[in-house]
Amino acid sequence: MSVCECLLFLHAFTGCDTTSRVYGIGKATALKLLRHNIEFQDVCKCFITSASKEEVIQHGERAMIMLIGGGSTGNLDTLRFQRFNAKVTANTTCVQVHTLPPTSAATVFHSLRVYLQCQVWIGNTSLQADEWGWQMKNGMYVPIKTNLPAAPEQILNVVRCNCKTNCDSKRCTCRKNGLECSYSCGTCRGISCTNSIQIDESVDDMTIYTEKS
Ligand SMILES: *[C@@H]1O[C@H](CO)[C@@H](O)[C@H](O)[C@H]1NC(C)=O
Ligand SMILES: *[C@@H]1O[C@H](CO)[C@@H](O)[C@H](O)[C@H]1NC(C)=O
Ligand SMILES: [Zn+2]
Ligand SMILES: [Zn+2]
Repeated sequence: MSVCECLLFLHAFTGCDTTSRVYGIGKATALKLLRHNIEFQDVCKCFITSASKEEVIQHGERAMIMLIGGGSTGNLDTLRFQRFNAKVTANTTCVQVHTLPPTSAATVFHSLRVYLQCQVWIGNTSLQADEWGWQMKNGMYVPIKTNLPAAPEQILNVVRCNCKTNCDSKRCTCRKNGLECSYSCGTCRGISCTNSIQIDESVDDMTIYTEKS
């Protein structure tokens, strides 16, 4: 697969109008990897040919590991844990979570969206967005970030709010921490405010990538 043919994948995977950027990885870094790494070129191929979800997910995880310099073995969650430990050792004051590699679960949905975008670019318009990393929320497509909770339940229970005003301002502790309100919240109970999950009932998004396995 030539570098030229891989550019669509490279652009989508490192962030374009419809996909997220990978924190700390620019286009130049990715291009350099692409030019010098045959395995990375091989991974690209999956995204611009006809592939199954399982293949896309598997190749997406490989691509992410290579991009963040994780070598050629192991998985993302292990790498994330190793990087976390390294950061704790280097600076016990604070670990900035956004500087860690993404989780494997989050990468699944990123990869699906990248595949969808690449396919649309090469003229395959037969794919449904809600099967490839998107879900319908309040009449709009929004990206599925992950299908795992942001942290173990015991920790999430510590973050809760007691807003009387619909949780629509930054004073809502949940919103401030980038979390949706939950059952532990005093007033809204995670169902009645603007920061609650409201998913279109017709889309059973959390089973998206396992339904065919
Ligand atoms: C579009 O992509 C899907 C998923 O890989 C594939 O099954 C289908 O054959 C492709 N359609 C066209 C027209 O290329
Ligand atoms: C540790 O991290 C904090 C917060 O980012 C920073 O202010 C501090 O300078 C760091 N300490 C060292 C020794 O790097
Ligand atoms: Zn609130
Ligand atoms: Zn709320």
